Amino acid sequence: MSRKGIILAGGAGTRLHPLTLVTSKQLLPVYDKPMIYYPLSALMLAGIRDIMIITTPHDQAAFKHLLGSGAQWGVRFEYAVQPAPNGLAEAFVIGADFVRGHPSCLILGDNILYGHGLPDALHRASSRADGATVFSYAVDDPQRYGVIEFDGSDDVVSIEEKPQQPKSNWAAIGLYFYDAEVIELVKQLRPSARGELEITDLNVLYMRQRRMAVERLGRGFAWFDAGTHDSLLEAAEFVRVLQQRQGQLVCSPDEVAFHNGWIDADALKALAAQHGKTQYARRLLDNLR
Ligand code: DAU
Repeated sequence: MSRKGIILAGGAGTRLHPLTLVTSKQLLPVYDKPMIYYPLSALMLAGIRDIMIITTPHDQAAFKHLLGSGAQWGVRFEYAVQPAPNGLAEAFVIGADFVRGHPSCLILGDNILYGHGLPDALHRASSRADGATVFSYAVDDPQRYGVIEFDGSDDVVSIEEKPQQPKSNWAAIGLYFYDAEVIELVKQLRPSARGELEITDLNVLYMRQRRMAVERLGRGFAWFDAGTHDSLLEAAEFVRVLQQRQGQLVCSPDEVAFHNGWIDADALKALAAQHGKTQYARRLLDNLR
């Protein structure tokens, strides 16, 4: 049964700029591509082709304008709205009909992941038929995130949302793989003190059933939650430095689609032509050499 993907690109979080009153922050550029291209590339690297994009009602038209049907990348997009930011787990209430009977993967529209071995880690998570897989990354400021505590044998003992006294420095990143049961489990959730259906509460349900795996991403990976002014700039600078140094694109859905064999050389050329004489276009065409 093929795995379905959901990108949650709704409101809430830090308001980055007055511009984000008229444009969703996930449409802002991170160096040379819109922010949402990064989580989209991660889903595509995991081999996921059926993707629901959840946005605020106000932003939906702009996302449709940017992303279209998905045919240009050999994927299929469905669009849905989240009228109010009622929590990340609400994605599985809104997307219940879309994911029913299928395993799924949720990624937040402002999460950026990059690193050697990432496709392998994503495929490993995607091929687990039972339970949930969350990804974890060591950070300096764990109190800003969901925090995962491990015991001596690397089993998860607790997950807490933004704890004041974090039990570890392992953050849960905004990328979650679930089996088909998720739409039943989400019905057990009640809004938290901050009024949201918490993804951490959903993960705790899987953890208690001992059906949760964690992929720990080590030093060779970069993860940004580009939801603050500083992290947005840091992520852009990271992408710029890497691309200039290596001459390769970071998280380009155009390139991932080509490497996955979902589009052919002519389609890649047509995508590159949309980018004029930019370095982005040149780097896309480098894939054909
Ligand atoms: O980035 C990883 C973290 O994401 C995890 O470690 C936390 O466990 C998880 O709760 C979440 O924390 P954040 O504080 O980053 O969540 P925030 O409310 O900022 O929302 C993250 C993104 O999801 C943001 O771009 C807005 C979007 N969002 C958020 C909510 C609550 C929605 O689209 N709908 C929502 O209802």
